[in-house]
Amino acid sequence: MGEIIDGKRIAEAIRGELKAEVESLTEKVGRAPGLGVILVGDNPASKVYVRHKRRACEELKVFSEESLLEKDAPEERLRKRIEELNADEKIDGILLQLPLPDHLDEDAMVSLIEPAKDVDGFHKLNLGRLLWGRELFVACTPLGIQQLLLRSGVEIEGKHVVIVGRSNIVGKPLAAFLMQKKAGANATVTVCHSRTKNLAEVTRSADILVAAMGRARAITADMVRSGTVVIDVGINRIPDESRKSGYRLVGDVDFDGVKDIASKITPVPGGVGPMTIAMLMSNTVRSFKMRNGIEL
Ligand SMILES: NC(=O)c1ccc[n+]([C@@H]2O[C@H](COP(=O)([O-])OP(=O)(O)OC[C@H]3O[C@@H](n4cnc5c(N)ncnc54)[C@H](OP(=O)(O)O)[C@@H]3O)[C@@H](O)[C@H]2O)c1
Repeated sequence: MGEIIDGKRIAEAIRGELKAEVESLTEKVGRAPGLGVILVGDNPASKVYVRHKRRACEELKVFSEESLLEKDAPEERLRKRIEELNADEKIDGILLQLPLPDHLDEDAMVSLIEPAKDVDGFHKLNLGRLLWGRELFVACTPLGIQQLLLRSGVEIEGKHVVIVGRSNIVGKPLAAFLMQKKAGANATVTVCHSRTKNLAEVTRSADILVAAMGRARAITADMVRSGTVVIDVGINRIPDESRKSGYRLVGDVDFDGVKDIASKITPVPGGVGPMTIAMLMSNTVRSFKMRNGIEL
């Protein structure tokens, strides 16, 4: 059986490092780093993510301010809230929890966030800077995946990384990040999507395979070559009557089928998920330092 990459433990270690850093930075600057979180509506998964983010802020003693807007909130209210957080000196990072209800234009709303406070890295300026190789903020899930690999002793340089999924929040920024001519990157990257022909043939050529499709257990054993490192980004709810909630979470990889073939594999839950939150904290600390002229 391949080694399980324990994202929960690695994320805990990162939060521990950040906690010590926040303590000394708070003393130095005279205030704690601050994160403003906006949640519009009551999407159940979004509420869970916001709760996890709140807990991480409490643990690290990062100041957090949550704005909960009702699901039919007019665009003007959201716009005003973002502008207030942009101007708020206590706030270093702004997180607009996606997806937004249908009547709100996600692209337009994310574009309102001050790029220097865009700790999610979703603003087009930050995506452009990432592509350019002069990043301000890298999106949290790609950052978390890189850290999972590096902290598990997986060399990325020169490896063939196959990413299945081309979303703006995972697939594309991860591809841009790992292809950079930089330490911790320098990979040869292939990006697959729903129109890719012979997907299994491509995924079998991977040294590192990242599944970010949003399709429960779509990556099966026949799609993975022996010795591949497998990173499962997917979070899918499937019905499970034995659970009180009536569902459980599975990834995009058929974990039971693939775990004996992979050299290392992330579980769901407990793999990429906790890393995404740890990297949100890391980006908030990064923003705090940049805004206070402290060397990164
Ligand atoms: N762990 C975390 O912290 C974290 C963070 C973000 C997202 N997620 C999870 O990661 C998953 C992906 O999220 P996302 O926002 O990137 O998803 P998304 O926007 O729905 O994008 C899915 C991508 O997968 C591709 N795809 C779908 N079915 C495919 C198939 N059968 N074969 C090949 N490609 C296929 C799509 O191709 P097309 O472009 O051709 O449609 C698309 O590019 C979701 O389960 C999400 O919940 C987890």
